[in-house]
Amino acid sequence: VDEYSIGDFGHMIADRVRMDAYAAALRAAITPGCIVADIGAGTGILSFIACRAGAGHVHAIETNEEALEVARQAAAANGFADRITFHALPSTQVNLPQRADVIVSDLRGVLPWHAQHLKSIADARERLLAPGGKLIPQRDTLWVSCADAEETHASMFEPWALDGFDLRAACDIVANRWRKIGVAADKLVAPAAQAATLDYTTADSPDLSVRVELVAPRAATAHGIVAWFDTVLADGIGFSNAPGGDPLPVYGQAFFPWPQATTVAPGDAITVKLRADVVRGTYVWSWSTSIRDASGAAKADYAQSTFKGFPLSPHLMRSQQESYVPQVTDEARADLAALQSIAQGLPVGHIAELLMQEHPALFPDVKEALTRIGMLCARYRC
Ligand SMILES: C[S@@+](CC[C@H](N)C(=O)[O-])C[C@H]1O[C@@H](n2cnc3c(N)ncnc32)[C@H](O)[C@@H]1O
Repeated sequence: VDEYSIGDFGHMIADRVRMDAYAAALRAAITPGCIVADIGAGTGILSFIACRAGAGHVHAIETNEEALEVARQAAAANGFADRITFHALPSTQVNLPQRADVIVSDLRGVLPWHAQHLKSIADARERLLAPGGKLIPQRDTLWVSCADAEETHASMFEPWALDGFDLRAACDIVANRWRKIGVAADKLVAPAAQAATLDYTTADSPDLSVRVELVAPRAATAHGIVAWFDTVLADGIGFSNAPGGDPLPVYGQAFFPWPQATTVAPGDAITVKLRADVVRGTYVWSWSTSIRDASGAAKADYAQSTFKGFPLSPHLMRSQQESYVPQVTDEARADLAALQSIAQGLPVGHIAELLMQEHPALFPDVKEALTRIGMLCARYRC
């Protein structure tokens, strides 16, 4: 689940290229009096643009309570309060009194394969969109290349060799995580390849599996794979997050590092396989690269995955085996007691008292107990 701060939403709104394209797409799609669903409304900006463009009613759907509160206040400040219904729920749990003529969203991260994005859009398309209704965006196209990203690569790998200490245990983890980057256009070491198109009007799988063949036109040093997307929001309206954007788009590009800097020569063939698989609700990204020179001789072979990017503790590994019998701990007992009290409808002050009595070592004061109950309430949306 994304937990953006209000400042993060400010950065999204400050991306003029993105905002202008979304505003143009909404103006093109909205007919006077139509019903709009704004999924992942954040602080409400797309809902307000929809109102201004003539929507009859807007459903602003957002799980981030803080953002939604800003949206409520801003709706009132802009005279839209009577035209917007706020839903503090995931869209997959929202039912609308009438299907929407337009569904607008931007649930992507750096790339469209992000969190619950594709699942949410597939659900919204089936349950919330009127027949013949419009989806904004319509489709995204994924682009892949390799880049000279010396500075970013160094910032990831160089800290692990300080003052003669051998800290390389961290490098295996660092090499298996990707991050956001802002690449200059002249830092791409091969022309980008179009890797996939995501058509939101039909897409029903949240996973990605693509293979692209790149050819290096010149000698260069590369540090990893770079991926970004173009979008078509409505017919003839869209934007691109390609390297070289100035200012840097809020999305940036995704940088999938190689374990080491790698030189390429003119004519080298760089084969990249990129996958995103939803495993237990979160994306596992895998990227493999093979570089062959013009004669076909191997120059480099890398296989990386975010699955390897998190240290798996022996306990975590053991506890996922079917034969494992969990032992209840004091913390688990305390959580169980707190959840049972919540289920009985007790006020939190009362539950805190009970926790302090039953588990004085865990909850030496009321603040500790209230914090724990608050976390449980947030976790389960109680
Ligand atoms: C990238 S922000 C976009 C905010 C705003 N619409 C904009 O364009 O500036 C995406 C927001 O969608 C919310 N979100 C993601 N999936 C959602 C879902 N299925 N239902 C409701 N909110 C969702 C996140 O909490 C986040 O606030």
